[in-house]
Amino acid sequence: MKRQVEQAKARVKGNAAGRLIVVVWVAFAGQLVAQTDRVRERDPSWTAPAKDAEQSNPFTGRASIVTGGQKVYGQRCHTCHGSQGQGTTRAPSLVAADVQAQTDGALFWKISGGNTRAGMPSFSFLPGAQRWQLVLHLRRLATEVD
Ligand code: HEC
Repeated sequence: MKRQVEQAKARVKGNAAGRLIVVVWVAFAGQLVAQTDRVRERDPSWTAPAKDAEQSNPFTGRASIVTGGQKVYGQRCHTCHGSQGQGTTRAPSLVAADVQAQTDGALFWKISGGNTRAGMPSFSFLPGAQRWQLVLHLRRLATEVD
């Protein structure tokens, strides 16, 4: 009789442990799904100095130029920011309103210097013209997505 009680207790304990494992596992898996679903947020303290933000894009209004930016984007940016700039788990959206609200100069400054601490590489090695073309391409992506 005593043994049976011990066995029953052990079973209850075993079940409780099993349930705990399932709960922990589900919580963990849920976390993973939530993380992979999430588009990465940007570092709010990363902003261009006023003199850089004021720079204007030498290619504004020249639609034919945008193909250059599209090409470079496809080579260097889409793996992190997504083919349409929609963002991925590695990098934030570039078509979001808070990005598009920034000036061409500010985006140029961000692309040039990067924010390596937060995972955005510096692209100062690209010719300036290509960086301005990239900004133009980001503007176009935003109008295509909406
Ligand atoms: C290795 C991944 C990676 C690559 C490649 C990359 N980026 Fe980024 N980018 C990031 C991350 C991460 C951030 C967010 C940094 C932060 O936390 O502020 C970012 C931020 C930005 C921002 C600022 C967005 C904002 O919220 O103000 C711009 C603009 C940008 N990237 C453009 C580009 C362009 C254009 C290219 C290609 C030339 C590129 N990125 C390539 C990871 C990447």
